[in-house]
This record gives sequence, C-alpha cells and structure tokens, in this order.
Amino acid sequence: MFDETAVRSHFPMIQNHPDLVYLDNAATAFKSDHMIQVVNDFYLRGTSNVHRGDYGLSIKASNDFDHVRDIVKDFIHAKSSKEIVFTSGASQSLNWIAYSYGLNHLKKDDVILTTEAEHASNILPWFKVCEATGAKIEYIPMQNDGSIHMDDFKNAMHDKVKIFAIAYVSNVLGVVQPLKQMIQIAHEYGAITVIDAAQAVPHMPVDVRDLDCDYLAFSGHKLGAAGGSGVLYGKYDLLENNDPPLYGGGSNARFDLCGNILLKHAPFKYEAGTPNVEGVLSLGAAIEFLQSIGMENIFEHEKQLKRYAVQRLQPLTHVHLYNATSESGLITFNVDGIFAQDVASYLNRHNIAVRSGNHCAKILVEIIGTSETVRASCYLYNTKADIDRLVDALTDITLEKCIEAAMV
Ligand SMILES: Cc1ncc(COP(=O)(O)O)c(C=O)c1O
Repeated sequence: MFDETAVRSHFPMIQNHPDLVYLDNAATAFKSDHMIQVVNDFYLRGTSNVHRGDYGLSIKASNDFDHVRDIVKDFIHAKSSKEIVFTSGASQSLNWIAYSYGLNHLKKDDVILTTEAEHASNILPWFKVCEATGAKIEYIPMQNDGSIHMDDFKNAMHDKVKIFAIAYVSNVLGVVQPLKQMIQIAHEYGAITVIDAAQAVPHMPVDVRDLDCDYLAFSGHKLGAAGGSGVLYGKYDLLENNDPPLYGGGSNARFDLCGNILLKHAPFKYEAGTPNVEGVLSLGAAIEFLQSIGMENIFEHEKQLKRYAVQRLQPLTHVHLYNATSESGLITFNVDGIFAQDVASYLNRHNIAVRSGNHCAKILVEIIGTSETVRASCYLYNTKADIDRLVDALTDITLEKCIEAAMV
C-alpha cells in the first residue's frame, strides 16, 4: 500500500515549503530524511577517506562505501558488484562509455544508432567519438509522441551498427522504450547496447540482467541522493577489457619509472582519484529509502498521477499536450500563444515549480515540431492535489496574466 502522507513526511523540503508544488523531479529530486541523516553522520562522526587509511574511521567508511556497491547491484539486478562503477552522474557515465569503449572500438563508417530524443549527455559524447574515429550517427525514425515502431527499429539496424545508444525513458516525452526486444535485436547484429537510464532508474524497476544491456548509466541526485553521485553499470568483461578514460590514484596496482602502468581490475580501474565518499553513501541511503517504498509502487503512483493530469488537462483547449499516452510521470505541454518560459514564470507566481525550454534534447524539435515546452515531472511524494494546483493555474492562464505576473 502506498501511503502518500507517510512518504511525504520523510522529505524535509516538503515540510519546509508546505505551499510549494514541486514538479521538476526530472531535473532533480528532493532528499529523504534517511539520506540526509546518513550524510550528516558521515560529516559529524565518520569523515575520512576510503581505501587509504589503516585506522578505524577509514576502515568503517571503506566498508560502508563498499557496501553501497552491493546495494546498487541488487537494486538494478546486476550479476556482480564488480559491474558497478561510481561516477559523478549519468553524464560522466555516458562519457566514460564513449571514451573507453567507443573510442577504442569504432572505426570509419561504423554506425552509432540512436534517436533524436536523446539528452545532450547521450549524444554529444557520440558526436566526439565520430569526429575522432570517422564513425557516423544514424537516427531511428520516431513517431511524434516519441515512440518507436519496432519495424522502424528493425529497419534501422544493420551490420555496420556497432553501438545502439538510447534513453530508457525520454526526459521530454516520458516514453518508456521497449528495450528488451530492441536490445535482443541489436545483439543479433553484434552491436553493443548503451542505455541512458537517468529518467528510468529513479522511477521504475530496472533489471539489467533481464534487459541484457551492455552498459547503463544513471544519476544519484535524480533518485534522492546527493549531487555528484552516479553509476556506470557495465557487463564485467566489457569493463575489464577496456581502459578507463581517467588515470590517477586508487585505480592502479603499480607503475614504474618507464611509464608502465598496471591497472587494478574493474570497477576500481575506472575510479581514479579520491571518490565522492559522501555522495556514494548518500546513493546507498537514497536507494534503501526507495526500496522501502517499492519501485513498482512508485512507478504505479507516478503513472496514476500522469493519467489524472491528462484527464484534467485534456478539456483545456488552450493547453497542447505532447505526451498524453506515455506511461511515466512526465507531463509535457505548451499553452497556445504563450512562450513556455512565460508559462513557467506564471506557474512560479502560483508557487508551482516546473521546467521550461528544450530540456537538453535540442534535436527533438524535428519530431515534436517545437523546441520549447513546459515539463511537469512527478515523483513519489507528489499528489493529486499537486496536479489540481497545476491544472487550476493553467485553467485561466492568459498572456495578459503572464505579463502582469512578470511585472509584479
Ligand atoms: C535522459 C537524461 N540523460 C542524462 C541526463 C544527465 O544527467 P546528469 O545531469 O545528472 O548527469 C539527464 C538529466 O536531466 C537526463 O534527463
């Protein structure tokens, strides 16, 4: 049973801003008291470096830190905790994949297959790989609601496709892609599959073994961990048989005067430098909190809020919804005749936080016909009352009111 009141009671941001409707969860999420307590304890009682000290504090911090790898492993159903690399977020994870695997395996005329709906972090690194290797990008045809027909996907696959890189859930349209089938087909062509799960892992159950993806990336802050924490999942052989893009302390077993370097085994060879200890601890705590609620419950709650929002917004003829059917907590829209940013500022006057703009998916314009939209994104602590406040504010929005609101 999903107890909305109990869930909300764990988020100090909600207690501290009782009148705020926070619907910008796709950007970042509020933090639970459990996670704040774990980080606080580390700062107040546990501060020390990990894997570098032979004293009690450091040994405890190292054990707690290492335990988070197991927590993440279980959370995404990886085979081994050695497949979990800690990073600073989805962007770093995706860059790591591009620069460790992509740069070393792609050659001229190889193809990276992706979509026009990708976040900058899952396309710019691939542009750079193409620049360096002579590989090229191809895009899978998409419907204007962001969905992909399986026939279009099959037609887009061919022998030259070496990497298939895609967001599990689009950060603009919220479409959950049928990845399992896509990954199976991509593998039949020998392609490596790279999943940007930044908008998936915080909101729904994700099982990397069931998906059989090769790499998967997500950020900690979007699931309630501290900023600067994230995960790169990779099948062990891929991690082990490729070199990291960054070198430094902690990632090598030895090196000598002549420049010979012996790296540690994966995942440690990808974690050069002092890690973000408090970020990793916060990641473990945030995941534990989500697990105490249940990912199925969270996903179902968000889908219900989305359906409710669609049902209430559809009668508003001046509101254009771009993703009425996608099954996630993202509601993306425009108001006729008003710039997205002016709508967001107007909502802000009503103490409703949403995001406006292109949401870092700058080539999606070709698919949905507009570069700017307003995005309201739900998480486990949002309620139907939040949606009501959004819909009420949009019901009588006019350009004049937006101008008035901007002048106050
Ligand atoms: C789909 C998607 N991929 C990647 C990212 C990048 O995440 P981060 O900025 O936490 O690295 C985001 C962030 O909004 C996203 O929505």
